Amino acid sequence: MSVSTSFFFHLLGFGLAVTTLVAGYVLERKFRSEQDLNLKLYVGGLARTMGLLSPFAVLLLLITGIGNIFNRYAGTSTSWYQEGWLAAKIIFFVMLTLNGMIYGPKISRSRTKLVKSLQENSAPAGAEKTLASLNHQLMLFYLVQSVLLLIIVYLSLLGTGKHPGAF
Ligand code: HEM
Repeated sequence: MSVSTSFFFHLLGFGLAVTTLVAGYVLERKFRSEQDLNLKLYVGGLARTMGLLSPFAVLLLLITGIGNIFNRYAGTSTSWYQEGWLAAKIIFFVMLTLNGMIYGPKISRSRTKLVKSLQENSAPAGAEKTLASLNHQLMLFYLVQSVLLLIIVYLSLLGTGKHPGAF
């Protein structure tokens, strides 16, 4: 892949990742403020549909990231793992991906099940308390994902490389 093609799609992947995260957060706020259980489930469904975009963003970033590595280091005496910002970035990317694939969907599924049981009047005792706890965990999930994404962007932009570099 040529520099511009790989880099172009890398930035598109970045845009897609930010859009998915922001839309997920906005829908999460809406889910929490909505009192009607039917509407809650509807908003939850929208959030899950938005979430389906995230594997595409991850794949796009990974494939174009590898393309960027080839373009940046092929024919030079530097190996990609010698650049601290890139190695750190890949570690944070793995954390972001695993958290997004495992933790978020797991809490979201449990919450949907609980809201459905509330709607059908078959909820277990203490359901409201459990719901509040799951809401809290999902907010924490969005906070962690946002921080990880900001760290990745910081490393991408300010790592020693084409820009003056902060470290
Ligand atoms: C959430 C994930 C990611 C985000 C938000 C992201 C974002 C960015 C951004 C904004 C740049 C442009 C930096 C600049 O030129 O100033 C960049 C460059 C780069 N990214 Fe990523 N990236 C991500 C994942 C990855 C992954 C997984 C890899 C490697 C497998 C990777 C490899 C690279 C490389 C090598 C460059 C430098 C390209 C060059 O200077 O020619 N990125 N990334």
